[in-house]
Amino acid sequence: MDGNGRWAKARGKERIFGHIEGAESVRACLEAAVEDGVKYLSLYAFSEENWGRPQAEVNGLMELLIKYIQEEIDNMMSHHVRFVVLGHRERLSEKVNALIDEGMAKTASNDGTTLIVFLSYSGKWDILQAMKKAACELSPEQFQALEIKDFDRYLVTAGIPDPDFLIRTSGELRISNYLLWQTAYTEFYFTDTLWPDFRKPQFREALAEYARRDRRYGKVK
Ligand code: FPP
Repeated sequence: MDGNGRWAKARGKERIFGHIEGAESVRACLEAAVEDGVKYLSLYAFSEENWGRPQAEVNGLMELLIKYIQEEIDNMMSHHVRFVVLGHRERLSEKVNALIDEGMAKTASNDGTTLIVFLSYSGKWDILQAMKKAACELSPEQFQALEIKDFDRYLVTAGIPDPDFLIRTSGELRISNYLLWQTAYTEFYFTDTLWPDFRKPQFREALAEYARRDRRYGKVK
């Protein structure tokens, strides 16, 4: 969800205003996803690397997240949205973790769109924690016999299908340590639109582009 900072700067405002407006885009895109029957909507809201931002911005983002969860859980309930947070949660504050747990527990049996918010996440961290988990759980023989299809269950995304489509806003052309393992055959979509300007029409334009893609998974059709 890139471009919040630039959106704010272009208006002579502090970066946090861009994040606040970005949260409105989150609301709009979730609404569109629910309306259009998208089964999983994943948002890369805060990377492990983002902890290195100025403390005031980190605090502002955490406050925004708290506010979002407090305000949106009831709305998610009425739209059957399952709320999930994935990432290195030990790094989040007790307050944030408690709210996340509460929101996840409340929406756990909803069977509509699953909204996954990646917080304190990095793809390399995910692969490493998966390796460690597998090494602890398995005997050396089982570890040696581990196959690609069996590795998925150790990643934080266990049980969640790999993403079909990845949207990156604001003209950035990188994956920035997002779902490195899981995006092996994901279709990418890059747009110059800054995240605060990415609303329902832009989301639907992206989905229409996805519908035009020809997915061959390395094979011949
Ligand atoms: C990247 O843009 C954006 C972030 C690091 C934060 C994303 C957070 C939100 C959209 C709001 C809260 C999230 C939820 C789920 C309610 P940037 O700051 O790097 O922008 P720049 O590239 O223009 O500097």
